[in-house]
Parts: sequence; structure tokens; C-alpha cells
Amino acid sequence: MLDSAQPDGAVGPVDLSNIDFDGLDGRISGCRLCQLATTRTRAVPGSGSRTAEVMFIGEGPGFHEDQQGKPFVGRAGQFLDQLIGLIGLNRGDVYITNVVKCRPPNNRDPLPHELAVCRPYLDRQIELIDPRVIVTLGRYSLGTFFPGDVISRVHGTIRSKDGRHFCAMFHPAAALHQERYRQLIIDDMKRLGEWLDVRAQEQAKLALEVLVDPSTPDRPHQSEQLALF
Ligand code: URA
Repeated sequence: MLDSAQPDGAVGPVDLSNIDFDGLDGRISGCRLCQLATTRTRAVPGSGSRTAEVMFIGEGPGFHEDQQGKPFVGRAGQFLDQLIGLIGLNRGDVYITNVVKCRPPNNRDPLPHELAVCRPYLDRQIELIDPRVIVTLGRYSLGTFFPGDVISRVHGTIRSKDGRHFCAMFHPAAALHQERYRQLIIDDMKRLGEWLDVRAQEQAKLALEVLVDPSTPDRPHQSEQLALF
């Protein structure tokens, strides 16, 4: 629930719980709920598959993203594309967004107030996409789901919370600034790829079992079985 004037003139509590993807993108694009609206060129809702199994969540748009209205299109984004390739996917297979949808001036860190007002947008995106795993890129994204966690301790791990899996990674921009992060990020992405492969094999096995013997009424729904992994 967001409380404020909306770009379409609606004033007061705005419930996002029934809004569809296009409606949500529209809300984000016209959002004026915090001061970032006054300095941005374009808001950056996110891009990719709306049925993605893997959702990447970064920090906030930078210069190029602000210009183009798309996430991760600068140098960090090029590295992210290569990393996504490591797990056998491409940009169109995953969904990419940020914890704040508008560029903080001079790429400063997002402020708590900005993170808070933008959060319902992210929550609704997650709800609509319902990804199998969320990859947090950097400490602000990690802190959104695991407040107090230290990225250097948890990076590369896959944990579940509230029925969803989370993989914490360093922000790809870290590799541009310090070479030592490059290999760490690559290793973490490979680990995620292995985890996804195991799950894909399990999924294929279950699908085959259902094909071979479709008449098992007491069999838990496939997604319930998968939730066990
Ligand atoms: N860094 C981010 O966190 N997000 C982007 O979209 C680009 C750079």
C-alpha cells in the first residue's frame, strides 16, 4: 500500500495488490513518491521475462539506465549479461530490476526513505513474477530481504525464506572496481547454475514420473514436491 498522490491523479492509499504488470510499470514510470523523481530522467521499472524463474535485484539505476529506462545497461550490466550466460540463460529468460527504481543523484547510495517508498513496487513485482530464486546483487538488495546480513559472509549461499530461495551475490560493479571480486562473483554464479541444474533434473524426473503414471491421485502437486528441494 502506498500513500500519496499518484501520476494519474489518484490521491490517498493506493493498493498495488490487484495491479497487473503493465499497470505496475506505469505506476513506477510516473511515480513521484520521493525526491528521486525530481532528478531522474526516466524511472527504471525492470526488464525481462515476466515468468522468469530467476530474478536479479540490483541497487538502483545509474547514468545509462536513467537515460534509457532499462536496468543494467552500462558496464556492470555487460558483466551481468556474461554472468547470466554462465548459467545457460540470457537477459530475456530472467527478470532484472533494482531496489530503487530511480537513479540517486551522482549514484549515491539509496536513502532509507527511498528504499521504503519503493519497496511495495518490488514486492508486487516479486508477487507477479513468482520467481524460483531471487539473486540479490550487492548489499542494499541483500539488506532488503536479510537486514543485518553481511555480504562478505553470505555471498554464494542459497537460502530459503518465506517460501522463496535467495542467492546473495556481490554487485557486478564491484568487479569493475576491484579485480579480486571478479572471480568471486563468477564462482558464485557457477554455484547458482549447479543448483539450478539439480533442480531442473529433479523437475524433469517428476514430470517423467507423472507421464509414466498419471493416475496417482495422492501424489502431491509437482510444485509442492519441488518446494521440498
Ligand atoms: N547498478 C545497479 O544496481 N542497477 C542498475 O540497473 C545498474 C547499475
